[in-house]
Amino acid sequence: MTQILWTYPEFHLRDEEFCVQNLLKYLDWDDVRARRVSEKAAALITIMRHEKSSLGEIETMLNAYPLHTEEGLALMTLAESVLRIPDKDTLDELIAEKLSQGAWDKAGGGDMFTNAAGTGLALAHKTLNSMLGGMGKPVIRKTITEVIRRMGGQFVLGETIDEAMKQARAYHAKKYRLSYDMLGEGARTYDDSRRYFESYATAIQKISEQAFDSDPLKNPGMSVKLSALHPRYTWSRAQDCVASLVKDLVALAMMAKDYNIALTMDAEESDRLDLSLNIFSQVRADPLLQGWDGLGLAVQAYDKRAFAVIDDIAKLAKKTASKIQVRLVKGAYWDSEIKKAQMAGLPDYPVFTRKENTDLSYLACAQKLLSLRDVLYPMFATHNAHTACAIIDMAGNDQSGFEFQRLHGMGEALGDRVVENNPVTIYAPVGAYADLLPYLVRRMLENGASTSFVQHVRNENIPSHDLAHDIVAAIQKQKLYRHPSIPLPKTIFSNRKNSQGFDVADVRVRQALQPPIKIFEEATPLIKGQPVKMGSPYTPHAPHDIGYKLSSVFVSSPDQVATAFHVAQRGFEIWSQQSASKRAEVLNNMADRLEG
Ligand code: FAD
Ligand code: 2OP
Repeated sequence: MTQILWTYPEFHLRDEEFCVQNLLKYLDWDDVRARRVSEKAAALITIMRHEKSSLGEIETMLNAYPLHTEEGLALMTLAESVLRIPDKDTLDELIAEKLSQGAWDKAGGGDMFTNAAGTGLALAHKTLNSMLGGMGKPVIRKTITEVIRRMGGQFVLGETIDEAMKQARAYHAKKYRLSYDMLGEGARTYDDSRRYFESYATAIQKISEQAFDSDPLKNPGMSVKLSALHPRYTWSRAQDCVASLVKDLVALAMMAKDYNIALTMDAEESDRLDLSLNIFSQVRADPLLQGWDGLGLAVQAYDKRAFAVIDDIAKLAKKTASKIQVRLVKGAYWDSEIKKAQMAGLPDYPVFTRKENTDLSYLACAQKLLSLRDVLYPMFATHNAHTACAIIDMAGNDQSGFEFQRLHGMGEALGDRVVENNPVTIYAPVGAYADLLPYLVRRMLENGASTSFVQHVRNENIPSHDLAHDIVAAIQKQKLYRHPSIPLPKTIFSNRKNSQGFDVADVRVRQALQPPIKIFEEATPLIKGQPVKMGSPYTPHAPHDIGYKLSSVFVSSPDQVATAFHVAQRGFEIWSQQSASKRAEVLNNMADRLEG
């Protein structure tokens, strides 16, 4: 099993108050700075609000159909699925289900697209609910597909790299740099992963046509997602995937090095953090890449480990005598991280539960990155004016050696102001619709979330000063550091305990589980509670970790299966004669004993 080095027991799944206190202790923040940053941010927000023309389709649609409404949720479900449903009947059923509820005719007052889309959706809704439902289906299908396509279009610079490079000229004219991202993630098969590898390789070669500088950070760059490059990018397949991903990433980095193009590894789900850092450190240390400073990675500030991760990346840079680019993001998978931790019954969340805590983590990480500019090149990816103003303020008189970044289709008004004084890179997705969907859903969540800065900027009822409020003071004022409406995973049910889970992505947890698992190493059929061994056992791989072999498994004979069924049948008869409350009591007892 590949050795995983990057675990952070002091922060991973730790209590939020402990993590926040640690960050507050580190951050160099006083009232004078707080006031100065808030004033600058408020002024900037006022300017941004005057630039309404830059609102895209997604913002106007989400204004008409916010995510917390039935229509907003239906829209998101459709966005996530419509373009990849292969057969018309299933698609029609999904559309009918999603459009049958809700008030779709309230889009009036938006821009032309929203009004037209709203009218289309309202008509579709009415048609579906009428006798004409069947006849109107092709038109409805087309309307919905077009609405989703248009919304997605806001975030894609081009369907091909050639098209995107043409579109990029307008950005170059405004002094922006580009980091292209070939859409695609979560490869399902090896063929998919090879297709994505080829698309990265071809794109690196193509964008070299726009790379004229000897400094890779002045040339266009490329962002990659490891989940696109391997269908089993998960800790339980570390034996296969680490070596393969290191090989692929070294190959792409070698190409990038030849063309002098910066290559940045995106950050994905939190249970892949150890794995990704392990892979990155092996690639960075590869002798073929020595002396080349074009490699970087994203770090998610919402993860409680981010602050410690940065120290280790700085150590890696020193050890490999290289400069590493660190793209600091807040993190785009928040909702699913919360849900997954609840489903797994983890002891706590890997991410913060309060938005302000993530903002604080971002500022503390930014301060650390700024202080490590001799070995790291910070890239601050944010659409939040307060966050950007805080970073500019923390950098003080030395505004060199770092840059800001924004996503194509977002944060235009802020980026256009920031780029007047600081370098700004645009992360520009490229690709076809089939590969856009998970990315589109993350952007919809980001644009529509009630805590999101970009959402608040659009809401003129929130004064600029409120939006630029000091987050440090807000955190210090609150008594509870965790979000009051997000209980710990084990207490999400009011009437029972959640089943306890294990963070098996963490090597320490897996190691601690080895001794108890040992007792299952010899697996034998149990009939009436008694082990029955017959014939010779075989030695399979453990299902939880294929690098680990179980010692012996005894297989049941057909006669034993028949006996087991007979015993179970008899048990069932006795069980069904018990009253419902007795059965519930037994099950509850059993569950509690399992929880230990
Ligand atoms: P804000 O509105 O200030 O912050 C929103 C963020 O706060 C949310 O995205 C979430 O992270 C956090 N948040 C929201 N609610 C809560 C809560 N209740 N508790 C705790 N935290 C909360 N994301 C990735 O995950 N991986 C990447 O590799 C990546 N690459 C990016 C590259 C670029 C150039 C850019 C601009 C963004 C990238 N992102 C990536 C997306 C990024 O995470 C989001 O754009 C970012 O979180 C938005 O932050 P903000 O400062 O613009 O907005
Ligand atoms: C995402 O794919 C931008 O990497 C970020 O959501």
